[in-house]
Amino acid sequence: MTRAPAWTPASWRSLEARHLPQYEDASALDEAVRTLGSYPPLVFAGEARALTADLAEVAEGRAFLLQGGDCAESFAEFHPDTIRDTFRVLLQMAVVMTFAGKRPVVKVGRMAGQFAKPRSAPFETQGQVTLPSYFGDNVNGIEFDAEARRNDPQRMVRAYSQSAATLNLLRAFANGGYANLRQVHQWTLDFMGRSPWAERFADIANRIGEALDFMEACGVSPETLPQLRGTSFYTSHEALLLPFEQAMTRRDSLTGDWYDTSAHMLWIGDRTRFPGSAHVEFARGIGNPLGMKCGPSLAPDDLLRLLDTLNPARAPGRITLIARFGHDKVEDGLPPLLRAVGREGHPVVWSCDPMHGNVVVSDSGYKTRPFDRILREVKSFFAVHSAEGTHPGGVHIEMTGQDVTECVGGAVAITDEGLRDRYHTHCDPRLNAAQSLELAFLVAEMLNRAAAGRARDAA
Ligand code: PEP
Ligand code: CO
Repeated sequence: MTRAPAWTPASWRSLEARHLPQYEDASALDEAVRTLGSYPPLVFAGEARALTADLAEVAEGRAFLLQGGDCAESFAEFHPDTIRDTFRVLLQMAVVMTFAGKRPVVKVGRMAGQFAKPRSAPFETQGQVTLPSYFGDNVNGIEFDAEARRNDPQRMVRAYSQSAATLNLLRAFANGGYANLRQVHQWTLDFMGRSPWAERFADIANRIGEALDFMEACGVSPETLPQLRGTSFYTSHEALLLPFEQAMTRRDSLTGDWYDTSAHMLWIGDRTRFPGSAHVEFARGIGNPLGMKCGPSLAPDDLLRLLDTLNPARAPGRITLIARFGHDKVEDGLPPLLRAVGREGHPVVWSCDPMHGNVVVSDSGYKTRPFDRILREVKSFFAVHSAEGTHPGGVHIEMTGQDVTECVGGAVAITDEGLRDRYHTHCDPRLNAAQSLELAFLVAEMLNRAAAGRARDAA
């Protein structure tokens, strides 16, 4: 890692930046960036610090992280119902996991800013025509025509507006009564009425219901306790489109530190964490909690160097390492990283992304993810942590509250032929609402066992 001695919001510019768009018109880019720089921050630095504190609890094993949302948000899917439904499923998942794990769940959406995508190929060919790839709605359009695929800096301004409106609705839902614990559990019971796996999940769901009844009998209800009426909810996205992130980076008036005010948490993708990366340089100077994807190509020594760069003070909660190995690689790939990090005493959160290492192309030609592989990766992640004596801190998933058909499998098994029905994602395939909640129940079983193990150790 080349370490520039002084960090500024622009110091990434002298390093190698992969997956960044080239804009034809430099003055149009300048104008968009100037506009963004004059707009209000989307989040306040104090909120980012609150998330760091919550994640420090996760790093210590006293809380669990649930991070989820679209692979790529899009202008086309921008709708209040889409935001509401994804938020609702995340809350349902969190309640189930909180109950089973006996630990608070820190909720972070891949929402209100997750627009830019790294792509494996810079160009896409269909028939005789080759055009630039789609890099996310804040860069270019998904339609396969030359005009749509042109990089347009004004798209960043539109993404800002959509993020602001999304965040506004999320804040209203989180604090305005929609997130009422009773209500959230009622939605889960409704879901149970439709799931073929209901019997398997009935025990946890019934016990949550009984706990709520008991609390109410004791006078603790959403009406009497504000914590049951609302919840905290944070936003995150990959800090990929650096001109945008730089424009949103401001100095906090309270501490004098720099924060990227486009989201509470930002992460570095698997393809932009190489030594000498501009993305790493940008991230090291912002005060927000940071995620970093860790895949099979990451060597333990490189990881340690990255941690020294990104978190030299070793602040707990600053770094979340998001393991995304693939169902068949995590068992061998994760332990060397866990041991290296443990040996050096870096206080990280370990989260499991069971999505990005498990993409397959189905016989009918759709990019999909088999639900059983997703589940297997999570199981192996928990098993590895149990064997190593470390804390499985969270899950990071691509999901939506909509009833899409993008990942195969699940209780109402989506088949290869079924994929074409409602395949709407702008990038990678997402778990639908039912599959997401099923995954939450299955993770709950794992958390339950981990909680039982802790109780035994304490006895
Ligand atoms: C993503 O999270 O959408 C992504 C591109 O992941 P990764 O960097 O792990 O490939
Ligand atoms: Co993705």
